[in-house]
Amino acid sequence: MAKHTVVTMPGDGIGNQVLPEALRLLEAVGFDAEYIHADIGWDCWRRQGIALPQPTVDLLAKHKLGLFGAITSKPKKEAEAELNPELRGKGYSYFSPIVTMRQRFNLDTCIRPCISFPGNPLNFIRKKPSGGYEEPFVNVVAFRQNTEGLYAGVEWTNPPEQVRAALATHSKFKPFTSVPGPDLAISVRIITRAAARKICNAAFDWAKKYGYKSVTICEKPNVLRETSGLMEDEAKAVSKEYPGIALWSTNIDAQTMWLTKNPEDYGVVVASNLFGDVISDAFAGLVGGLGFAASGNIGDEVAVFEPTHGSAPKYAELDPPIVNPIAMFLSAAMLLDHVGETTKATRIRNAIAAVVKEGQVRTYDMMRIPGGPKAISQGAASTTQMTDAVLDKLQTEREIDYAGSMVTSV
Ligand code: NAI
Ligand code: MG
Repeated sequence: MAKHTVVTMPGDGIGNQVLPEALRLLEAVGFDAEYIHADIGWDCWRRQGIALPQPTVDLLAKHKLGLFGAITSKPKKEAEAELNPELRGKGYSYFSPIVTMRQRFNLDTCIRPCISFPGNPLNFIRKKPSGGYEEPFVNVVAFRQNTEGLYAGVEWTNPPEQVRAALATHSKFKPFTSVPGPDLAISVRIITRAAARKICNAAFDWAKKYGYKSVTICEKPNVLRETSGLMEDEAKAVSKEYPGIALWSTNIDAQTMWLTKNPEDYGVVVASNLFGDVISDAFAGLVGGLGFAASGNIGDEVAVFEPTHGSAPKYAELDPPIVNPIAMFLSAAMLLDHVGETTKATRIRNAIAAVVKEGQVRTYDMMRIPGGPKAISQGAASTTQMTDAVLDKLQTEREIDYAGSMVTSV
């Protein structure tokens, strides 16, 4: 029997192209695992009226470890229009299966490393005041609270009377009291002290483990005094338990404006759900963007790893596939770290680093050319060729000094 069982959920579109490539890599590093396929995504919604079917939930509950590709989601009207005609009008409503999964298994800690690979043409470069350019080494790990905040899903258009009555007890609701129900949409930003404490703890733990010198809490406590205020209070309280690691506090808007000023100065960054989503995407954009952005959704029992990109439907039918599988590979490496197979994870990251540094094999995004059927004839590597190149570097076992490898950098 294999040592680990991984529930594989390729999902929609390019999820089906990149996930199988990651399995080739996991096999090549000798990960002792069995893989069980599970359905998720748009086809499930269309056929069954639910994007995260119960058998998938059951498999995750049983095996506790998931590798996920990407899903397609569409706005409300389209979702209803594409639903199996037999199910229409029966009260089915679409809800993101990833958000559902995070909430169902309380995958409250989202980790998104945003670490440059030297030689990546997509790395952020900066003009020097004295002329010429410099390429700062970005080594940020973003921690996003994954289950609460504005994504808790407590929202209404035309809120019920009791909700309006409750809101009317707050003086700041006065300007809205006469807005007709159908013209009023409300989202509730829920932050609990326990979850705020937990994500801040996770961020500081990571900083300590991997030698980061600072943790930045990225919120907006001057305006969102209660919710962001609570996040910041907890960050301050937690920071006291970690002497030697500085706590910095920035506002989400200012942080995005100053993002490119000094990204190399940041280490671990922690934020509530929406701000964490924003700031992790922002940092990911400095180190290669969607083709390089990996993430882990970690709960007390279950953990699911996924590239942060979506299903890229416009490239899903291309043969050969052209999308960059590196984000998926880095997600698989995070899975390896999570189960304690850090040497195998490091081997994968080092092999990717070697391919990127050499610069011979690049997918279309790395060449900064348009994606599409012509990309290959313009010299872009296919998805499979990129995997082959990474596999090749694994096999040569060359000693490579990849400064960003989360294990070797400590
Ligand atoms: P997307 O991430 O699928 O694609 C955005 C652009 O990034 C695409 O035009 C593509 O050129 C590029 N891209 C994405 N992954 C790439 C890769 N591995 N290599 C090279 N280029 C890559 O986001 P988009 O277009 O906004 O959404 C498409 C669908 O995906 C939608 O239905 C959306 O709801 C869903 N989505 C799902 C996510 C998930 O499963 N976690 C996350 C984001 C979007
Ligand atoms: Mg996002």
